[in-house]
Amino acid sequence: MIEGFRSPEKTKSVLGIDIGSSAVRLLELSKVADGYRLEACLTEILPVLDTGRPPDHEALCQTITRLVRSSGTSLRSVMASVPDSSVKIKVVELPTGLSESEIEACMEVEIERNFPYSADETVFDYVLLPNNEQQPSAIRVLLVACRLQEVRARQHLFSSAGLDILALDVEGYALQRALLKAHEPVVVLVNIGSSSTTLSVLIGDCMLFHKEHALAGRALTEQIQSYYGLSLQEAELGKCRKNLPNDYSPSVLRPFLELLVDQVRSFRQLFLSAHPFSEINRLILAGGGAALDGLPHLLEESLELPVSIAHPFADMQYAESMKIPSDVAAFSLACGLALRGMDDSGH
Ligand SMILES: Nc1ncnc2c1ncn2[C@@H]1O[C@H](COP(=O)(O)OP(=O)(O)OP(=O)(O)O)[C@@H](O)[C@H]1O
Ligand SMILES: [Mg+2]
Repeated sequence: MIEGFRSPEKTKSVLGIDIGSSAVRLLELSKVADGYRLEACLTEILPVLDTGRPPDHEALCQTITRLVRSSGTSLRSVMASVPDSSVKIKVVELPTGLSESEIEACMEVEIERNFPYSADETVFDYVLLPNNEQQPSAIRVLLVACRLQEVRARQHLFSSAGLDILALDVEGYALQRALLKAHEPVVVLVNIGSSSTTLSVLIGDCMLFHKEHALAGRALTEQIQSYYGLSLQEAELGKCRKNLPNDYSPSVLRPFLELLVDQVRSFRQLFLSAHPFSEINRLILAGGGAALDGLPHLLEESLELPVSIAHPFADMQYAESMKIPSDVAAFSLACGLALRGMDDSGH
């Protein structure tokens, strides 16, 4: 097992860095007497590449270095993540009474059997889940595995920027940590990024259902680009600065939002057919796309559910020098990462 994918040492101040496909976000949190204090919260938007490829190693490394410098932090260890798409998660049932090394050996066998890469090419971690009362003779183990190459690439990126990785987390779990209270009833979390939108059904600290699709911010930018004959960069700026012709809202934005709402509706349908006795209580919108005009209202109307925009710092204190960004929902992942390194974040 590789250092870094394991649980981090818990500390009093933690840096979380979210490397998205359109932006890198840095967040520093400190533990204070009655909660957490936000010490720094910064974004650098990555250049929009017409190729659709993510920025290269060198560009990312410079971006991280600039963000760390601008934040003024003295920390040099970070919590980071690997994308959900590069992670496989499985619940494994084993007989009771196994030692830790026997459980670990069983996990290696599971990886050989169920994952596309051998145990040697995989980094994994596991936790014991609460017992299933109907099956007292078995233990349930949550196995999370990621391709070694992905982990090495992250380690290489951060070490090139002069930083160490405290631990790597799975994006879905970090979002959950930032936005859900323990024992919260069933919630749908929709994180609209640039290259992908992830949809999860969560209950307390358990993820019941998860799906990812490509209808996200970049797809809207491409539609603006082709509708108005702009470059990708111009389309992106026009979208975020709300500086597009008058027909943008009815002709481009509204059809896009309707497609997005359809995706959320069919996701809910899929979930409810797999869990027929469940009831969804509310929906949280996170990611940069949470700022899309009119989306909360359209979702509320269509799904008949209360919809809120994620505010991961709602219960936190702020350092005096802090300027709170307007797009707090886009910091949900960075916040969940920093919380993972805290000594009482729970999970
Ligand atoms: N005010 C705004 N209105 C509409 N879209 C916006 C606004 N602000 C940001 N966005 C969009 O949000 C997206 C970026 O969100 P986010 O930072 O969560 O993505 P990311 O983490 O870089 O991407 P991914 O998670 O897919 O790798 C971009 O597509 C951007 O255009
Ligand atoms: Mg993202």
